[in-house]
Amino acid sequence: MIPLAKPNYDEAEVEAASRILSSDWLISGPETEAFETEFASLLGAKHAVAVNSGSSALLVAQAALGISAGDEVVVPNMTFVSTASAAMYLGARPVFCDITTDDYGLDPEKLEACITSKTKAILPVHYAGQSAQMDAILEVSQKHGIPVIEDAAESHLARFGDSFTGTLGVAGIFSFTPSKPMTTGEGGMIVTNDPDLAKRARSIRSFCDAGKFQWESLGFNFRMPEVLGAIGRVQLKKLPESIRRRRSIASRYSQVFSKLDGVSIPYVRRPEDHNFQLYTVRVDPAAHAIDRDGWISELASRQVSSRLYFPTLHQQGVFSRFPKAEESLLENSLAYAKTAFSLPIFATLSDSNQDAVIEAVADVHQKFKR
Ligand SMILES: Cc1ncc(COP(=O)(O)O)c(C=O)c1O
Repeated sequence: MIPLAKPNYDEAEVEAASRILSSDWLISGPETEAFETEFASLLGAKHAVAVNSGSSALLVAQAALGISAGDEVVVPNMTFVSTASAAMYLGARPVFCDITTDDYGLDPEKLEACITSKTKAILPVHYAGQSAQMDAILEVSQKHGIPVIEDAAESHLARFGDSFTGTLGVAGIFSFTPSKPMTTGEGGMIVTNDPDLAKRARSIRSFCDAGKFQWESLGFNFRMPEVLGAIGRVQLKKLPESIRRRRSIASRYSQVFSKLDGVSIPYVRRPEDHNFQLYTVRVDPAAHAIDRDGWISELASRQVSSRLYFPTLHQQGVFSRFPKAEESLLENSLAYAKTAFSLPIFATLSDSNQDAVIEAVADVHQKFKR
């Protein structure tokens, strides 16, 4: 079975990890600090704060911004659960906004309708490594004086205009899970140009310990272990080449899939801006005798993994305590969740496996097209 994702590790990561394991310094040390400095510098951000997951980064960034009980944060209705659930640990409520039909990010035209006097942050997601429409989103943010925290969990080195995603809002967060263009296994990063926000995030990450076990306010253990910091530094060096490979695989896929009626290839604002953390297609239910779930099982029978990233969030049980969202305002995300699936893409995907993915998709199309 060709997997959806695979880490790009070799002897360099093994060497980095063993170096730390044979040292005496396992947390809050020089490797993680160097990883932070190198990550910030690559992105052109002033500060980077390493944590133990992208979800922790979402939680710490929102806590550092002062989000608390009774507040609301606006999130896209199609994203990973923690974009929305992190705020709930602070007593805040996620409000679901529809996505656009091209970049699948937060729809700036529907954003204002989600803002109330309780809104304390807007969290756009750069889905699959294609940036959301940050100019229009930032315009709404400025008009209402509400800060933007970018969920750049998937969009390492992706760009909007001249800036890297994650550096356009007051803060941006990244994830380093194994499907991402760089991975530390688990891990995350917060980037910001605001020194006070960075300071508060660092403090929250480590129990808000003012020194010598003086705990003045609420923090917790969100620290990144040194082993992961050391692996992260190696992965960061490989990141530009890993993304180049992903772009070239995506371009091969799109060349073929763009010719299949009823199959929509990913929207690309500018080829050099998309990192292709995911390669997501949509299938028109009228064009084939099978629906999206049928596509997924047909591809599986041809040894190709595929999966919906992500379902809609508004009807998930975890959010059932909040007032029901109006579904007519979420039509793009609802249509997306019925027709989208992502295909294998990762830096070490061999040419022959790329061919196998292409052949499988073309074969299912040929067999079931109406
Ligand atoms: C958009 C988005 N937000 C947040 C996360 C959470 O990151 P993590 O899995 O590192 O907690 C992920 C990845 O899983 C993601 O894709």
